[in-house]
Amino acid sequence: MNIFLKVAAFSLVMVAGFWGFASFGIPQIKPAPPPVEEKVDLGAMTMDQFIALGGKIFNGKGTCTLCHNKMGRAPMLSDIGKNAPLRLKDPRYKGTAKTIEEYIFESMTKPSMYVVAGFGKSGTNDTESPMPDVTGGGIGLNPVEVKAVIAYLQDAGGAEVTVEIPAMPKAGAEAPKAEEAAPLKTAQEVIAKFGCGACHKVAGQTGEIGPNLTKIGATKNKDYIRQSILDPDAVIAKGYPAGMMPKTFGEQMKAKELEMLVDYLAGSK
Ligand code: HEC
Ligand code: HEC
Repeated sequence: MNIFLKVAAFSLVMVAGFWGFASFGIPQIKPAPPPVEEKVDLGAMTMDQFIALGGKIFNGKGTCTLCHNKMGRAPMLSDIGKNAPLRLKDPRYKGTAKTIEEYIFESMTKPSMYVVAGFGKSGTNDTESPMPDVTGGGIGLNPVEVKAVIAYLQDAGGAEVTVEIPAMPKAGAEAPKAEEAAPLKTAQEVIAKFGCGACHKVAGQTGEIGPNLTKIGATKNKDYIRQSILDPDAVIAKGYPAGMMPKTFGEQMKAKELEMLVDYLAGSK
């Protein structure tokens, strides 16, 4: 072998060795996120996970099962796929829904548009529903949560799931498009834009799917928090499901936004 071939062969062995080492020897660490400007959505979530999220909200934060249970305080929703079309044809129907999805949405936000016979507020002859608007006051489901619950009810109620996994709510929903690309200014805006509050108790929001983050800074440092956001499966918080938290924040957040968020969470004690 001449010297050139020897060097080439040696390099190949080295490269192969490093490749093997990098792939198998040490855990892959994702580099810090590049400041990509991308549309935000719940990208990493599958429909099954979205439906499961809806089920959790239905049985938890939504307080739906306080009334929708076997005690008969409210109708069971396991046949909603069959019942909704009948409601829409009923002469007593006052709403504007055309589809099962729209009917469920309307039931959750304007329950009195149709009151299931026998379930009205007493004395109103089934013209007023005792059910609250679940997006308001005490329950306060956000738009993502409402969609998830609809997906869950369609799935559990024998209807086709027509809900689409929504794009995450923007910090200021009515902010003009041109401003979207500018980096957000506060951690609260980042949390709102990326919908952390749908799953976490954080910054005044009350999600329950993931751990409470209002005191995370008391036990976790910045590195841990940063890693939890960039690579959620690296460490799974005890008692919580893996694979639920979206893995796309690292690509979607600008570096500055990420650091603001990490600082804020680390300072929440
Ligand atoms: C305080 C009790 C109460 C709570 C809490 C409640 N509901 Fe209801 N809901 C009712 C009652 C009573 C009815 C029947 C009267 C009516 O049609 O509005 C009803 C009706 C409905 C209907 C229409 C059912 C049909 O057969 O047409 C849907 C859908 C529904 N609720 C979904 C929900 C969801 C989802 C939640 C939780 C996010 C929820 N409800 C929370 C009491 C409640
Ligand atoms: C769809 C639900 C969901 C969303 C949205 C979500 N998370 Fe999570 N998150 C979880 C779940 C579930 C866990 C626990 C399992 C795990 O560790 O991956 C978690 C874990 C975490 C942890 C680690 C907590 C601990 O005690 O170890 C942090 C920090 C965190 N999330 C921050 C965020 C931030 C910041 C956002 C928004 C940018 C966010 N999450 C959005 C579901 C979510």
